[in-house]
Amino acid sequence: MAPSPGGLRSAKWFAGQDVPGFVHRSAMRASGFSRMAFEGRPIVGICNSWSEVVNCNMHFRGMADAVRRGVLAAGGFPLEFPTISLGEQLMKPTTMLFRNLMAMDVEESIRAYPFDSVVLLGGCDKTVPAQLMGAASADVPAIMLTGGPAAPAVFRGKQIGVGTDLWEYIDDVRAGRMSMADYEKLEAAAGPSRGHCPEMGTASTMATLVEGLGMTLPGTAAVPAMDSRRLQVAEECGARAVGLATEGLRPSHIMTAEAFDNAITLMLAVGGSTNAIVHLLAIAGRVGIPLHLDRFHELSARTPLVVNVRPAGEHLVEQVFHAGGIPAVMKAVEDLLHPDALTVTGKTVADNLPTTAATDTSVIAALDSPFQPPNGLAVVRGNLAPDGAVIKCSAASPELLVHQGPAVVFENMKDLMARFDDPDLDVSPDSVLVLRSAGPRGAPGMPEWGQLPIPSKLLRQGVTDMVRISDARMSGTAYGTCVLHVSPESAAGGPLGLVRDGDIISLDARAGRLDMLVSDDELTTRRTEFRPQPPHAIAARGYTAMYVDRVLQADRGCDFDFLVGRSQRPEDEPDAIFEGWVGGW
Ligand code: FES
Repeated sequence: MAPSPGGLRSAKWFAGQDVPGFVHRSAMRASGFSRMAFEGRPIVGICNSWSEVVNCNMHFRGMADAVRRGVLAAGGFPLEFPTISLGEQLMKPTTMLFRNLMAMDVEESIRAYPFDSVVLLGGCDKTVPAQLMGAASADVPAIMLTGGPAAPAVFRGKQIGVGTDLWEYIDDVRAGRMSMADYEKLEAAAGPSRGHCPEMGTASTMATLVEGLGMTLPGTAAVPAMDSRRLQVAEECGARAVGLATEGLRPSHIMTAEAFDNAITLMLAVGGSTNAIVHLLAIAGRVGIPLHLDRFHELSARTPLVVNVRPAGEHLVEQVFHAGGIPAVMKAVEDLLHPDALTVTGKTVADNLPTTAATDTSVIAALDSPFQPPNGLAVVRGNLAPDGAVIKCSAASPELLVHQGPAVVFENMKDLMARFDDPDLDVSPDSVLVLRSAGPRGAPGMPEWGQLPIPSKLLRQGVTDMVRISDARMSGTAYGTCVLHVSPESAAGGPLGLVRDGDIISLDARAGRLDMLVSDDELTTRRTEFRPQPPHAIAARGYTAMYVDRVLQADRGCDFDFLVGRSQRPEDEPDAIFEGWVGGW
């Protein structure tokens, strides 16, 4: 890789003998940094999403210190900076509403400050795609370090994945099979350490995809959060960031169409979260890669599930780590990967692959003896989802993947919560539960409401799954026959808004179809009468007003329309941001 064209980016700030150079160096020295410490060295930004309201990222200060050691050891100078952070559990109404805000914060912080490269510290679900989106747009050399899976929770002597098993326990409470006292004990036991959710939920999926995209060092994604090796890889990422700065290896060099194919293949091989689809579409949009939903369907048709990890399998990510981690998964699906894709190591995927296979084939299987066959994910289209919807077949009931049943329609989440447990609700095990006004604009923020609860009266009859359809997302730790991300959403005038109680819904995930068996004439009539639900009150002002106005639909990654595409030629970027500079003290 050629040296960074024009030398270090930070030289624009610090090398000049003019007034701006004086001001910039003076600012650094006011922070206690001598000229010896930073002058002429690659400046490595450490973009830290640490926050006390993001429990999954609470160990990031220690990780940042380790990154700092690596940067210094390699001859760079580290500068840590904060951005907004997104905590999946505490942030309301949903972190997805703020993913683009964080991405903008990350992008502008990287662009505005004198960084030659950046280490992105992300962990909890949306922090990782937000940082990748921002870094992709800024296109300053970057490497990501994810936080690692938390230690497994143990309840009643059994190791649990809180996200995955929680849904079962909630059903137990609702069906009277678990006492409230035990439920409280579960609450206390649920989070035994820092780190992201320990099963293959959205956070672990995104960490895996970072490795698949080539945006981190091989083998980092699955190292447990509390394992000392996580700090060691943090040091290595810091050191590598110095190399990236001098080599000028940028996100746009690494996140190519081949890299996205590799990431999607990995997502399918590990049975990853459907949320990753939305995020990958958005990240691809930022680097100008024309990625579409159909590519996920195509790659799903050839990629089996080779990792036995929850929610699709039995284990937690920690066991995946001990079986060889993501490099062993990549080795298992080597024949499905683009071997020549470049990574942040400066080498290709093929160069980085281990020479040996997984150490435990009960956790990571070979390609020819997978845990589940291909087609673990399907993209469905039809008169109910003209622009597509997705279903995670590997987490669904096989007998429901081809199903017809009468719709039971809920106008919005409030309506759902008010009526789903009504003993008089006209619902049977064959019914198809439909939720609308839960998409990017309608909710707003496309929350994880897609795993609609099964009415208690059916739970008591032993019903454990039903076909559920919505324009929402679903937690990466959830399961069930849930058709998600229906596009366009009802609030954008999509036909999901036209469904009425009793309409027969036809799902054929195998054939990629989702239709309501209603005549075209009737749908035309309904369309003339249809009035989308008005925007939620929180969208009346500020960021949320802009979000609702400019967010794209799920099939385009829910990014803002004005952020899609590469912003400018990176070589010109420091000059552009300095243009018109008149000083500032
Ligand atoms: Fe933060 Fe799951 S809640 S990763």
